[in-house]
Amino acid sequence: MSKQVVTELEKDVQFFEYTQAANPLSKGTIKQVPYAELLHTLHEQGETRIISFDLSEKLICNSPATSPNLSANFIRIKAGEKIQTVANATSELYYVMRGSGHTKAREIKISWAKGDFFVIPGGANFVHSANTDAALYWVNDEPLLSYLGVVISKEKFSPTLYKSEACQHELQRVADDPASRDRNRVSVILANKNFSQTMTVTHTLWAMFGVLPADSVQAPHRHNSVALDLILDCKPGCYTLISKDIDEKGQLIKPVRQDWKPYSAFVTPPYFWHSHHNESGQAANLIPIQDAAFHTYMRTLDIEFAHP
Ligand SMILES: [Fe+2]
Repeated sequence: MSKQVVTELEKDVQFFEYTQAANPLSKGTIKQVPYAELLHTLHEQGETRIISFDLSEKLICNSPATSPNLSANFIRIKAGEKIQTVANATSELYYVMRGSGHTKAREIKISWAKGDFFVIPGGANFVHSANTDAALYWVNDEPLLSYLGVVISKEKFSPTLYKSEACQHELQRVADDPASRDRNRVSVILANKNFSQTMTVTHTLWAMFGVLPADSVQAPHRHNSVALDLILDCKPGCYTLISKDIDEKGQLIKPVRQDWKPYSAFVTPPYFWHSHHNESGQAANLIPIQDAAFHTYMRTLDIEFAHP
């Protein structure tokens, strides 16, 4: 029998019998997005620094990642200090959890204060300076570009600031609408005029500013996007239940309970059912950041409500 010669062009060829490779997630070669949280205590103390919500080991990613497409971080900046960030990302989103200051992004200076959101195309060094003790929630899509092996080559939007007062005003307007009583939630989705198809904050990122009224339950739903949820002010008694399945009555089966903690973040894995509960007696705010814009573009978001 003659020895087969493998050419350079054939050296990586591989075949699997169909059932062996049809579902790599169940096979275990790729891992489910894990449950995880990043606590507020990290950005409330210590030196000026970036605190990465890094789940790359569990996700088997080669570089820091909170989900396959997204990286979430806290940035702590002590009063009078500054810090530089850089990410090979199409989109960077920042939410100001505490304090005030400014960010120099390319030729633009963005002044910010507590409650503001701003988005910037990545791929350059940005310097964030704090006037007072400050903390930012920073989410970007660097893991997606890292997986694809690409470098951002085109800025698809210009830096955009969503001021706290404007966000609060819009949320209040929605809350005051009598029709909101019939809706599943009281929230506003941040959008950008450049992305009229996906109706989102950037072409990959999706951001929501919502309130969970006192003594309310937001019924279960699910979507193929991951949610990197940031909780704002809240009292004990607010939580999210997360589960893979629901029963015939739309109730979560054996859910995991994620208690809300002020200015802490947690992961809601993609395609897991989740419901939000507020038994605290006071309204609470949440900011889920997702890769839902990218999913919407791919026509794969598939958002589904247990009780339509
Ligand atoms: Fe959700």
